[in-house]
Amino acid sequence: VVTPPPAAAAPPVVARALLAVDPPVAQADPSLGRAAALTVIQREVAGCTACKLAQRRTQTVFARGNPEARLVFIGEGPGEQEDKQGLPFVGPAGQLLDKIIVAMSLSPDAVYVCNVVKCRPPGNRTPEPDEVAACTPFLLRQLGVVRPEVIVTLGRTATGFLLGSNAPMSRLRGQWHAYQGIPLLPTWHPSYLLREPAHKGETWSDMKLVMQRLGLTPPGARG
Ligand code: URA
Repeated sequence: VVTPPPAAAAPPVVARALLAVDPPVAQADPSLGRAAALTVIQREVAGCTACKLAQRRTQTVFARGNPEARLVFIGEGPGEQEDKQGLPFVGPAGQLLDKIIVAMSLSPDAVYVCNVVKCRPPGNRTPEPDEVAACTPFLLRQLGVVRPEVIVTLGRTATGFLLGSNAPMSRLRGQWHAYQGIPLLPTWHPSYLLREPAHKGETWSDMKLVMQRLGLTPPGARG
């Protein structure tokens, strides 16, 4: 009996993605490597027709921010402004998210921001399970390339997907969880905070936990 050799371990996501770009350049500069690996995924997203959301999109919405980010924010899916501009969190919820990021003593350009689904659900409805299933391989590959130190999930869709949990946000937020060994903190979605500003204080206390984990100084503790 001939035993087949064990299958070679799949190369890590970054290495696989880099096979599709110019290897000498990508290997010479590790930061270009991460950006280039994301560009490969972004091009696949741009051509994706795997679910019904593709039919009504203006364009796909991949990510914004720094491929080398220590902190990744994950929302639900593009809204009207995002669908028009091709960038996540550029509408009213995005303006609030940027205020939160700046209050954390970070620049919006220093973090990485993306969504569970890359095409706008009609009327901003919650993405349906088949749409989440079709799109999330892209999100998981993005996380595999960026490999942040901390993930913040914004709202139920991102939190539920990454934690595989149906528990309510009121139970999940404000506590540390993990996704594949990466510390993950769920908090309220900024769109929810715009509707229910009384919960902003909870998000701020969640973000203080994130700052602590990243070794950032909370405002008021400086000087
Ligand atoms: N809400 C999201 O979840 N993502 C966006 O990009 C914008 C609004």
